[in-house]
Amino acid sequence: MQGSEILSTQATRLGGSITYLKTPNGTEAFLKTARQFERLELQREFRNLVALKGRVPIPDVLDFQDDGIVTQLVLQRAPGVPLHEMCQSWEKEKTLSVIAEVLHTLWNSADILQLLLPSQGVEEELQDVALLLEQGRIDTIGFEQDSGVKSPITAYHQVKANLELRKFNVLSHGDLCLPNILVQTDGTWLLIDWGKAGIADRFRDLASLEGSLRRNIDVGAFHELLKYLDLDDPNNIDKKMSVYKLLDVFWYNALI
Ligand SMILES: Nc1ncnc2c1ncn2[C@@H]1O[C@H](COP(=O)(O)OP(=O)(O)O)[C@@H](O)[C@H]1O
Ligand SMILES: [Mg+2]
Repeated sequence: MQGSEILSTQATRLGGSITYLKTPNGTEAFLKTARQFERLELQREFRNLVALKGRVPIPDVLDFQDDGIVTQLVLQRAPGVPLHEMCQSWEKEKTLSVIAEVLHTLWNSADILQLLLPSQGVEEELQDVALLLEQGRIDTIGFEQDSGVKSPITAYHQVKANLELRKFNVLSHGDLCLPNILVQTDGTWLLIDWGKAGIADRFRDLASLEGSLRRNIDVGAFHELLKYLDLDDPNNIDKKMSVYKLLDVFWYNALI
């Protein structure tokens, strides 16, 4: 944005960046810039934020530009700190009850959103994986190390073969980890980073949360979280999450 003061900037993948800035009228904002494949995700983030406004706590969009090569999204700086920082000084129960509230909000706001947002289930994620494979964006050696699966292509087919019958009927954030949940000391929360959201099944966000809770709290935290939730299909949770955990290796561990 013209005349803005840059407070800090961080490079992301393939010429992308996230810049923290102050606009001429004093508003603090984050500018997300993307090129190549990552543009798709930023375009989706903008579309999702428009659909979610007023229905789920999200940051305000200040600007969006797309010239066919570079995509830019400017968001107002939201209040709060990331939950992976706040949870260091909170009782575990408080952290888990905030996460449970986040999930309840997502899972109860799908009715109208089913009309506004596209499906973002396993098949849609696989289409994106196929694109990345085509473009040579997957680190083959890293993938095997992180997933234990012989090759990315094997993993792709493994996920494809596991398309069980699921209910794709809830709003899914798609990258629901503690850093993407901003909280204030009174427990008020807001979600950022909406590029992977859509209508999916409950195990998509549970799978990402499981890893994030393990990394930031402890191995038992996820099972404690389940006690706060009212899952109508609580059997074989690990198996239902495993497809998404494999997909997460594509998104977070093996992308080059
Ligand atoms: N609207 C916002 N308000 C406050 N902090 C933000 C906002 N948008 C981004 N951030 C900060 O920038 C970081 C990266 O932004 P994010 O949208 O999560 O992108 P990604 O994780 O894909 O790089 C976040 O973890 C957060 O610290
Ligand atoms: Mg993020």
